[in-house]
Amino acid sequence: MDAVTGAFSYTGSAIAYELLARDRSVRTLVRSPAPAGHPLEGSVDIAPLALDDETALTSALDGIEVLYNTFWIRFPRGPSTFEWAIAASARLFRAAAAAGVERIVHVSVTRPSVSSPYAYFRAKAAVDELALGGPVPAVSVRPSLVFGGRQEILVNNIAWFLRRSPVFAVPRRPCRVQPVHVDDVARIAAEAVEPGIIDAVGPETFTYRELVSDVGAAVGSRARLVPLPERAVAALGRAAGVTLHDTIVTAEELGALTASLLTSDEPPRGTLRFSDWLPGQADWLGRDYHSELDRHWGGT
Ligand SMILES: NC(=O)c1ccc[n+]([C@@H]2O[C@H](COP(=O)([O-])OP(=O)(O)OC[C@H]3O[C@@H](n4cnc5c(N)ncnc54)[C@H](OP(=O)(O)O)[C@@H]3O)[C@@H](O)[C@H]2O)c1
Repeated sequence: MDAVTGAFSYTGSAIAYELLARDRSVRTLVRSPAPAGHPLEGSVDIAPLALDDETALTSALDGIEVLYNTFWIRFPRGPSTFEWAIAASARLFRAAAAAGVERIVHVSVTRPSVSSPYAYFRAKAAVDELALGGPVPAVSVRPSLVFGGRQEILVNNIAWFLRRSPVFAVPRRPCRVQPVHVDDVARIAAEAVEPGIIDAVGPETFTYRELVSDVGAAVGSRARLVPLPERAVAALGRAAGVTLHDTIVTAEELGALTASLLTSDEPPRGTLRFSDWLPGQADWLGRDYHSELDRHWGGT
């Protein structure tokens, strides 16, 4: 049996489906019960993701061969700081060792660095070091911008704005992204056996402006794309966030995007193309807003 943290969330659910398709038994460690009618309910064993209780984590991982870890926070909020998330990850990895887990497949991000100007990327690097330097053989799977599946937030919310607004602000600084389909991330994670680092990126590279423009075309948007300094885009994102009661995009996320951190220098392991996926999504993409705070922070 393998364990997946957060099998009712985004990447975690794709990994759980992938493992079940490979005839693995799956236990998920989750903070909350399955949403009503979730298709994975009944197919996976469920245990608590008690991130502050190492003993409970060790019990939850009893009998597990491979731990697939997708736990992370997009931004710090209240007591859930990046320092807390690093410490919680350390507890999870220690629990895996204590429970006799044979391998950890840890989902990270492209280009994490302890010297990054962005706290998210520094914290991800710190957790990678914990995973890769720990006693359990570990693989760090590093996705770029993940798309696909109905639970995704980023591309959906870009489409939501493009459907409603006559203008859409994009950072003036040219930047590249290499989106990867969530099913490719799941496959790459399921096939990650050798300890080390694997980038999980898709076969296509876009400028961010091209990506937004393609999303707009796919959903029939007439919004004009307006290049602005990053700071102005972040301020507009904050203002929209107040109205929608959400954290739409952080200054850090914009900084990392414009620094083209969501790309890889390795040959792409993902095969599913954003440009093939996008045209078929107009019936749902961007029709409803997907709130990060509602989904992962209890709407606080
Ligand atoms: N999505 C992307 O574009 C992308 C790109 C690069 C790397 N990644 C990495 O991929 C991994 C999985 O990301 P994802 O997009 O699939 O994330 P997700 O669905 O938002 O969440 C992943 C897991 O983290 C937990 N989590 C989220 N917010 C939390 C909070 N405030 N407090 C405690 N737990 C929280 C979730 O638990 P609940 O379901 O209980 O909230 C879930 O188990 C992360 O390591 C992320 O850094 C994602």
